[in-house]
Amino acid sequence: MTSDAVPLSGSRFQTEPARLYREIRRDHGPVAPVLLDGGVPAWLVVGYRELHQVTGDPVLYSRDSSLWNQWDSIPADWPLLPMIGRDQPSILYTVGERHHERAGMIGKALAGVEPALLRRHCEHFADELIDAVCSTGSADLVGQYAMLLPVRVLARLYGFSDDQSSALVTALNDMIDGRERALEGQRHLATSMAELVARRAAEPADDVVSRMLAAPGGFTEEEVMQDLMVMTAAGHQPTADWIGNSLRLMLTDDRFAASLFGGRHSVAEAMNEVLWEDTPTQNVAGRWTSRDTQLAGRHIKAGDLLLLGLQGANADPQIRTDTSELTGGNSAHFSFGHGDHRCPFPAQEIAEVIARTAIEVVLDRLPDIDLAVPAESLTRRPSPWLRGLTELPVRFTPTPALGGN
Ligand code: HEM
Repeated sequence: MTSDAVPLSGSRFQTEPARLYREIRRDHGPVAPVLLDGGVPAWLVVGYRELHQVTGDPVLYSRDSSLWNQWDSIPADWPLLPMIGRDQPSILYTVGERHHERAGMIGKALAGVEPALLRRHCEHFADELIDAVCSTGSADLVGQYAMLLPVRVLARLYGFSDDQSSALVTALNDMIDGRERALEGQRHLATSMAELVARRAAEPADDVVSRMLAAPGGFTEEEVMQDLMVMTAAGHQPTADWIGNSLRLMLTDDRFAASLFGGRHSVAEAMNEVLWEDTPTQNVAGRWTSRDTQLAGRHIKAGDLLLLGLQGANADPQIRTDTSELTGGNSAHFSFGHGDHRCPFPAQEIAEVIARTAIEVVLDRLPDIDLAVPAESLTRRPSPWLRGLTELPVRFTPTPALGGN
């Protein structure tokens, strides 16, 4: 790997990622050498074609993190360990036929969610959250709304009762926050998931966990519990960021102003544009090469780590010759990944319903909503991985709560 590797950290991922990915492509081509925390080397794949090649060949570019040729130099307290995943027995690092069965188990369990019921849950929880702020005339639509909604809906679909879900919301947001309460949050989640799985194993019901347990393939309670953790963490934060980033676009871009005053058609357009231009999952770790290979003229050694540069690939000028053609209804972006290990289709559909309903409820309940701060002062969380706002302060004419729906 070359010595001019790009550190995958720093404020530019927060402030101007589009320009940064352009510069990375200009200076290093579609497969760039990068350095992770502590100077750990990896490759960032920002070329659309190259990313297609990597995600389309799960044997050469494996999800099996045990292949990594850097494990000997990774300290036990390396901050990225939870994301890279050593010895994590979840679907994320499972490969081959077993992965196929496991993805089928999760996909079918999620596909069993009834669309009308999902929509009702989303409206119910969204209305409850708006009820908590609507009489005040101002709110932070990230902290008081987007960050609280997806996990509540998912918890209900998975099989948790509503009185358990507010503790889950706190635990998950603590864990994502990555500060002093993170480990405690993770423990609470793991214990709650294990309890739910044990309860449903003894007494099945009509929910996602019961369907996972009943799936063929002989999955143990431990495996189901591990996947439930993934489905909660992988489901909540990107969906929350999809809501926040789309609301930001609609509140700051004149093209969407009409929809804020009663129009609807452009909610889907704003959401799709966000997936192309401002996607929640910017970079994903990762894939590990199972043998030496060449990619875009780079020599990639067996066991090298490749990071999927989803946002970089979405903006690849090789495919983005005319921006307007690709946004609109075009969904050939990489925002849900691609290939065997992509986000399961039923998960994508659930995320879409949660995000769309969340935005529609805001527009319905707070029709004269406006940003409460200048657009330029909005800030993003400092992360090269998930892209989302720290807050989205808005104001509106106070309205009474609906209450008890
Ligand atoms: C209900 C919400 C969601 C659930 C339950 C969910 C669940 C999952 C699961 C289980 C996987 C692992 C698939 C595998 O390894 O075979 C996955 C992968 C992925 N998800 Fe989602 N997800 C949700 C929403 C989202 C959203 C909103 C985004 C981004 C906009 C997203 C982006 C991704 C990506 C990029 C991957 C692929 C990672 C890779 O290729 O290694 N997901 N998701």
